[in-house]
Amino acid sequence: MRILAIETSCDESSVALLQASTQDGRTSFVVEGVETHSQIDLHQAYGGVYPSLAKREHAKRLPHLLAKLCTSTKSTKSLPFDSIVVADIAKILEREPDALPAFIQFITTHERPSIDYIAVTNGPGLEPALWVGIAIAKALARVWAVPVVPIDHMEGHILSICVTHQENETQLSPVEEIRFPLLSLLISGGHTELVISESWRSYKKIGQTRDDAVGEAYDKVARMLGLPYPGGPQIALLAEQERALSPLPQKSIIDLPRPMRYTPDCDFSFSGLKTAVLYATQKMTPDDLLSARPAIAREFEDAVKDVLVAKVTRAMQTYTPRSSIVAGGVASNQFLRDHLQQVALAHGATMFFPTKQLATDNALMIAVTAFFAIQDGKKVYAYDSETCTSPEAIRANGGQVFQ
Ligand code: KG4
Ligand code: ZN
Repeated sequence: MRILAIETSCDESSVALLQASTQDGRTSFVVEGVETHSQIDLHQAYGGVYPSLAKREHAKRLPHLLAKLCTSTKSTKSLPFDSIVVADIAKILEREPDALPAFIQFITTHERPSIDYIAVTNGPGLEPALWVGIAIAKALARVWAVPVVPIDHMEGHILSICVTHQENETQLSPVEEIRFPLLSLLISGGHTELVISESWRSYKKIGQTRDDAVGEAYDKVARMLGLPYPGGPQIALLAEQERALSPLPQKSIIDLPRPMRYTPDCDFSFSGLKTAVLYATQKMTPDDLLSARPAIAREFEDAVKDVLVAKVTRAMQTYTPRSSIVAGGVASNQFLRDHLQQVALAHGATMFFPTKQLATDNALMIAVTAFFAIQDGKKVYAYDSETCTSPEAIRANGGQVFQ
């Protein structure tokens, strides 16, 4: 099965082409291409993602990313299309004027790749951004007569462990090594969730943040420290340098809380931690703040680690998982990975992580998820059915999780 996937839920525009098959009970993938454009530079001035800018940028970039992706792959003969098709595309892309000219240019200059499905993230995420990907997916479905499958972004993060970025080589997926129950910790800019799967592709949320997501806390604290967006990698680097200078636990110049560490549930809260950093830094002069930055970063990361470790421990004690996955942008963090891995070892669970490239948002994880979802009988939307062109068929749903 060959899948073209599109991901636009936040500030990465990403497209991917994946070939997937299952033979003798083993799943293998060939990554034929991944093209991702990060909007980080654009949003840096705002210290976070600015939704209407994100939407426009996705619309401008996607046709060009598709052009890059589709030239580097084998193609079959393109479908002839006429003014009726062009009119349909104009209607489908009505709300994406920034995409239309480049999209028309793309389809007239590129042949249809030999794909069986188009996968697109339909939530959760920023709704205006999600709609761009969905509109482009529908327009491609119209031109190429390929069915579309809507994919949940969070399921994408979980299944991101099934593939690596390595292009044009057959890779055996570790998917068959997953044992159930499976505990997934999803830590990203928009989500902090613990999810239990008793069987393949079943998901039950057992805990979540009551306020800020952990990545959001990283980003906001980084901003208080005068570090650029996204703050996660910046704080991680400072904390790591500080730990390298003095490896033994230090009495920090600030003491930060570990919110909800001991509550008898699997929920999280990070807004108090963020506010504690705010109060501490407000009292400092700019010079003091600059020199205190590494110590604050270290103490903040220790606080995050303590809370995540406590909640994963609680979830492991309660649900005794045999496998575990830690995924989402914050899962790029090596310090957090090392500590969570220790928890898994202590509880006899095998822990899987995505490669660092695939921890942050990308279309490859959406393609992989689509493969498993389609095999599992998930509904796909064909272009020529009534539903695909109707706006009700595939909808962006900012808050939707696991549907
Ligand atoms: O999954 P993702 O790419 O996008 C969302 O779906 O939100 O996650 C982005 C988040 C940002 O908050 C970013 O600061 C954080 O992941 N992040 C990190 C690291 N790399 C990215 N946080 C901590 N340590 C890192 N190394
Ligand atoms: Zn994400």
